[in-house]
Amino acid sequence: MSLGRLNHVGVATPSIAKSVETYRVLLGATAIGEPFDLPAQGVKVCFIDAPNTQIELIEPYDESSPIAGFLRKNPAGGQHHVCFEVADIAVAVAELKAKGATVLGEPRIGAHGTPIVFVHPKDFGGMLVELMETPGEDH
Ligand code: CO
Repeated sequence: MSLGRLNHVGVATPSIAKSVETYRVLLGATAIGEPFDLPAQGVKVCFIDAPNTQIELIEPYDESSPIAGFLRKNPAGGQHHVCFEVADIAVAVAELKAKGATVLGEPRIGAHGTPIVFVHPKDFGGMLVELMETPGEDH
């Protein structure tokens, strides 16, 4: 495994609509996707394109959402995770486990429709890391 591109920065927010306005008004964002629901993962998601990466806005789908707890601690929202691309998620998971990292659960299909997995923040100085399989990209 080698470190791939930064695919996106995940940002938790209590309101995707309000956050979209902030990026539009303060930063001039224009490439703003349509928000969509991922009820199986307990989140609503909206992607904003920057020239070299994306911002993934994440709003809780309901109170049982995995990020509801994050927003209780950070009511205004905040940076939640960073996502790096890997060529093969199974290889990445096996290597991380062999090196003693704590991989959170099994790979599953993420907001981009590709396999993703999360690595515990304790392994990255407090930062939650998402890995996304992007075959064919230059890793
Ligand atoms: Co993400």
